[in-house]
Amino acid sequence: MSGPDQSEPTASDPSARVAPDYVAHWVVKSARRDELVEWYGTLFNAKIAYQDKQITFLTWDDESHRLAIVAVPKPFKFLFPLARFRRKAYGIDHISLTYASLERLLENYVRLKRLGIVPVWSINHGPTISLYYEDPDGMRLELQVENFDPENTSAYFFTEEFAENPIGVNIDPEYLLSQLRRGIPHSELRHREAGVRPGTPVVANKKTINLRTL
Ligand SMILES: [Fe+2]
Repeated sequence: MSGPDQSEPTASDPSARVAPDYVAHWVVKSARRDELVEWYGTLFNAKIAYQDKQITFLTWDDESHRLAIVAVPKPFKFLFPLARFRRKAYGIDHISLTYASLERLLENYVRLKRLGIVPVWSINHGPTISLYYEDPDGMRLELQVENFDPENTSAYFFTEEFAENPIGVNIDPEYLLSQLRRGIPHSELRHREAGVRPGTPVVANKKTINLRTL
């Protein structure tokens, strides 16, 4: 009888890892290149890594580029008048980007609000606290923070709380930041109703979905 070959790589062996290491970038075709460059410049301090007549590469960290915008003729936006609503019904819904700290997520929220960029949806899903923004083409970005460490996060999906409400509870980011500044740690603020300002109604689960947040 033969047992498993101990020399075979296992899932915990890095040499056995077949998945890539992380998401690199996304690419869009747009008739609003200049608007997008400005918007991402505000959102993340994105810099132009390269640009020519046809394409712009933006980056906001050590990656060569995070977003590339292929410029298409301006009249194209009239060919696809409903393009910004496409994601509400079909295909990619959003791209999610993680902040390593709740404080940085919320401080950026405050900075962006001052500059006129506000989320279309602010919610504590349970596993994450998430602020959804839409770029000038209607591409939706989820800026989020993970609520649990990697060892414990998948267990959340098997809690009664998730079974009862798999969508989450709408939050007030400013209230959450005020609590954080008072010294209440993320480990307490990760509870879904901790982001609901006292005296305001709790909006939870399917009630969080409307034409704007969908
Ligand atoms: Fe998401």
